Amino acid sequence: MMSRGLVSNLLFRSSGCSQLIRCCSTQGAQQTLKVKQMIENKRQAALLGGGQKRLDAQHKKGKLTARERINVLMDPGTFVEYDMFMEHTCTDFGMEKEKIPSDSVVTGHGLIDGRRTYVFSQDFTVYGGSLSMAHAKKICKIMDQATLVGAPLIGLNDSGGARIQEGVESLAGYADIFYRNVSSSGIIPQISMIMGPCAGGAVYSPALTDWTFMVKDTSYLFITGPDVVKTVTGESVTQEELGGAKTHTTLSGVAHKSFENDIDALLQLRTFLGYLPQSNREPAPVRASDDPWDRYVPGLNTVVPLESTTAYDMMDVILGVVDEREFFELMPLYAKNIITGFGRMAGRTVGIVGNNPKHAAGCLDINASIKGARFVRFCDAFNIPIITFEDVPGFLPGTAQEYGGIIRHGAKLLYAYAEATVPKITVITRKAYGGAYDVMSSKHLKGDTNYAWPTAEVAVMGAKGAVSIIFRGKGSEEQEAEYVDKFGNPFPAAVRGYVDDIIEPATTRKRICEDLELLSSKKVEKPDRKHANMPL
Ligand code: HXC
Repeated sequence: MMSRGLVSNLLFRSSGCSQLIRCCSTQGAQQTLKVKQMIENKRQAALLGGGQKRLDAQHKKGKLTARERINVLMDPGTFVEYDMFMEHTCTDFGMEKEKIPSDSVVTGHGLIDGRRTYVFSQDFTVYGGSLSMAHAKKICKIMDQATLVGAPLIGLNDSGGARIQEGVESLAGYADIFYRNVSSSGIIPQISMIMGPCAGGAVYSPALTDWTFMVKDTSYLFITGPDVVKTVTGESVTQEELGGAKTHTTLSGVAHKSFENDIDALLQLRTFLGYLPQSNREPAPVRASDDPWDRYVPGLNTVVPLESTTAYDMMDVILGVVDEREFFELMPLYAKNIITGFGRMAGRTVGIVGNNPKHAAGCLDINASIKGARFVRFCDAFNIPIITFEDVPGFLPGTAQEYGGIIRHGAKLLYAYAEATVPKITVITRKAYGGAYDVMSSKHLKGDTNYAWPTAEVAVMGAKGAVSIIFRGKGSEEQEAEYVDKFGNPFPAAVRGYVDDIIEPATTRKRICEDLELLSSKKVEKPDRKHANMPL
């Protein structure tokens, strides 16, 4: 039996305890409420970015805000945000008093047409979207996760560059991002959409990604702005002339495509993603198509003009063979003598390269070689079969090309085709002259199936040049005709097995679709080495 003293002692203790609990739970509830309120306040502050005035200013420039852009890009309601509470850590220049939750970038992941995609969207309303260490850490976190899970990374760039108040911290942050751009290269697709300023060293992350797109009139990319250019070189140039969308899609080749405005850019980005695999571990996606895989395309039988020197548009060939005539062209305004882009055949994504006789006779020059090489390498890294339509009179002659290093740059395209192990299908529609014959996914570079149309001419060069060299400038028209008879047809290549078949052009789609099915199980083992040494 318990003594009365012990019982009363226990009672006292337990009543004190329950009082304590009551007291604690009231305090706990208050604390919980306070934290909840803080969370809500911080969330609201993050959503408001740099404040209503700056959000309005962003709209006035014809630009969406960082969060609006994500909402347009992602399937509704799927965006999961990370690090909304992260703040910059700078204590100089009074910065400790001006902290905005989320800082100057919104990061996370969501779905695009049901497929997981990581995104960062720089918020120009917060310190001009400039890159603080916190900003860089947020980006690095999603880059790391995207690579681990195997999902594409999209950067929506709108930034005044390094956060000037943070000094070297900001530079370190950039380098942390660059390192990840490189280490994830060839593992996940990385895409940069430039939607505002992108200047200084900030340009190098987009340059390291697979694709750089721009929005017309509101975006620009340059290493040094117009003021520095004026000081150093004396040139007067506007921002738009120096680094606008037109400059980079037509002259420099830095950007692969530009779009009319933010909405157009983001919707087209969704379309573009649809062609790509999630990572190098997955095959390219297949989308059901109503277009019959064996569709006969009669128009192709007459697309090549009777006269060998007359131009035609290789785009007519490409649109004729791809599913539903849908083709996502890349770099359409740069090096137009070569076409690059994605289409689908029997639902499968394919990368298409085509010499275009409509521009510069379809010759290979420095810009075309670089454009084609980078495209081929992307396809190869991401398991996308490459289809090549060939009509090429050779490499462009001249001092401009030689001094510019056509040998070095032309070698890039040759190298890229030789290195590629994805299915490679080539169709020679007309000219396959000289070194360019070798380069354009020839049998000798391990093309899997190589076809010639009846109009194909596989030769060292055109008849005029050949006869002039053979007969030391004294060749006759008869000799030219004899040369054409001998080489101006597909037989010299076909009899040697350098093309697998001479096909009726109208059956090209059917033949390619059959080959893609056949080659879908293609496997190539590569020798062990650290990495190859392509001519850069
Ligand atoms: C901190 C910045 C900033 C920056 C802009 N802001 N850039 N804050 N660091 N880099 C702030 C502005 O103070 C302003 O704050 C707000 O962002 C909007 O800027 P505005 O100038 O009012 O906008 P706008 O007229 O549209 O001009 C945008 C701009 C200009 C062209 C980007 O802001 C600009 O020139 N900024 C500096 C660009 C720069 O030199 N960056 C460093 C590059 S060197 P308030 O409070 O007024 O809204 C670099 C090295 C990286 O990046 C190296 C990596 C290897």
